[in-house]
Amino acid sequence: MLRVAVLASGRGSNLAALLDASKAPSAGFKVVGVYSDRADAGALDLARQAGIDAAHVNRKDHSDRISFDEALFERALQSQPDLIVCAGYMRVISAAALGLLSVPIINIHPSLLPRYPGLDTHARALAAGDAEHGVSVHVITPELDGGPLIAQARIPITPDDSPESLAARVLKLEHCLLPACVTLFSSGRLQLGHTHIKLNGERLSAPLQLHDAQLLLSEPT
Ligand code: GRF
Repeated sequence: MLRVAVLASGRGSNLAALLDASKAPSAGFKVVGVYSDRADAGALDLARQAGIDAAHVNRKDHSDRISFDEALFERALQSQPDLIVCAGYMRVISAAALGLLSVPIINIHPSLLPRYPGLDTHARALAAGDAEHGVSVHVITPELDGGPLIAQARIPITPDDSPESLAARVLKLEHCLLPACVTLFSSGRLQLGHTHIKLNGERLSAPLQLHDAQLLLSEPT
């Protein structure tokens, strides 16, 4: 059973999706801990309600970003995870701290990377007049939102979309894509590297699309 630790800064809707998905017999993973840089993160409440290890690590208790990142990882690693998932975690993680991690760490980002790394992705996609938008799950490397892409899900942008309506539709995709990626990883068929991803030993030439990931999950492992 794959042990998953989650880093979150906010309400935790992606965490909730993971918790729901983990109940499926075929899921192959369980969330063993939730850790946040925000004491008021709804994600911590969700974890406590689920009886899962939950902790706030206060940035103010640490002199600099690297020692804070290391303290957060140290606390997360106490739950002995096989995978760390940043799900609505809003801080940039320092390269030094990433270099100390012995388990893979992935992130979900609300854009079709490499388009729109960083913030305000929905407004930027609208402003650019893009025909489509979506979400990416990727390995975290020191480059912000720049690690190898595992999977993506996409939707058309409609003429009457606002950043809010687009965000709401993308969020629904996130709640499907992230659990699909974690379940696929728990099946042992995904190898997560810092430069590329392998599926069944073959290097991915492009990120899996949501329907691919769901199709793969329907195949016998
Ligand atoms: C989501 O859009 C996620 O992609 C981004 O943070 C937002 C909030 O996530 N990283 P959640 O509802 O706290 O899971």
